[in-house]
Amino acid sequence: MRIGVIGGAGWLGSAIAGALLDTGVVEPRNLSFSYRSKRPDRFPDAFWTSDNQTLADRSDVIILSVRPADWPDLTVDAGGKLVISVMAGIRLASLCEQHKTTRVVRALPNAAAEVCKSYTPWTASAGVSEADRAVVQAIFDACGVQDEVRTEREIDYLTGLSGSGPAFPALLAQAMMADAIAHGLDRPVAQRAVNTLIVGAGRLLEQRDDCPAETVQTFLDYRGTTAAAIQEMATAGFGTAVVRGLAAAFQKSVRMGDTS
Ligand SMILES: NC(=O)c1ccc[n+]([C@@H]2O[C@H](COP(=O)([O-])OP(=O)(O)OC[C@H]3O[C@@H](n4cnc5c(N)ncnc54)[C@H](OP(=O)(O)O)[C@@H]3O)[C@@H](O)[C@H]2O)c1
Repeated sequence: MRIGVIGGAGWLGSAIAGALLDTGVVEPRNLSFSYRSKRPDRFPDAFWTSDNQTLADRSDVIILSVRPADWPDLTVDAGGKLVISVMAGIRLASLCEQHKTTRVVRALPNAAAEVCKSYTPWTASAGVSEADRAVVQAIFDACGVQDEVRTEREIDYLTGLSGSGPAFPALLAQAMMADAIAHGLDRPVAQRAVNTLIVGAGRLLEQRDDCPAETVQTFLDYRGTTAAAIQEMATAGFGTAVVRGLAAAFQKSVRMGDTS
C-alpha cells in the first residue's frame, strides 16, 4: 500500500506517518509527503515533493493534513482514490467534489498520535468499500484506538471532545500547578507532582478500563480528602464548565464546515 500525506511536514501529518512506520503499516519507500514552505529533515527515506498532484499520482491512499483554512486552495485530483481527511470541519460532500472521488473518510485523530495513543473517530462517504474500511482501521489502529461512527455530526461533536481532548487534562494540570505554587511549593516539585499524577491516572484508566462514573464513586466512597475535593469542585461548577467548553468546540467545528 502506497500512502501519501499532504501537509506531512506538519504536527499531525508527521505524527501519523511516524506511527505508520513504527508499526510497519507502510514501508518508507511507499510513503510520500508534501510540504509547502520547507522540507523537514524527518523521514529521509520517504519520497518528498512540493507538488501535491505528484504525491496523489504515486499514492493509493491520500491523507489530507493541512489546516482547514489552507484546504480551499488544495485542488488535487485524487482520480477516484481513497482520500482520508483529518481536517476539522471540512465535510465529506465538499471533499468528494473538490478531489474528484467518491471514496472519502473524515477522521479526527488527536495530538496523542505522536505517542500512538490517539483516539480517532471516523466516518465514511457512500463510495467507501469494506476493503477501504480495513485500510482506515489499520492506519488509525497504528495511531492508537479508532471507531467508525455513524454520522458527520458525531465527528463534529468528537472534534471538540477527543480531537481537542489532550488539551483538557493539560488545563486541569495547569490549574493544579498554579495552586501548588500559590501554596509555596517549588516550581519543579509542583510540575513533577502534577505531570506524574496525570500520567498515573491515565495508566490506571487504561489498565482498569472502568466507567469514569464508577472511578469517581470509588473515590467518593472513601469519604476522605479526595471526596471533599470532588464535592467542592462539583459545587463550584466543574461539570458546567466542561459542558460549556465542549459546546463551544462543537459549535466552532460545525461553523468551520459551513464556511468550507
Ligand atoms: N494537531 C492536532 O492535535 C490536530 C487534532 C485533530 C485534527 N487536526 C487537524 O489536522 C490538520 C493539520 O493540523 P496540524 O496541527 O498538523 O497543523 P500544522 O502543524 O500547521 O501542519 C499543517 C501543514 O500543512 C502544510 N501545508 C499547508 N498547505 C499546504 C499545501 N498546499 N501543500 C503542502 N503542505 C501544505 C503546512 O506547511 P507550512 O509550514 O507552509 O505552513 C504545515 O506543514 C488540521 O486540519 C487540523 O484541523 C489536528
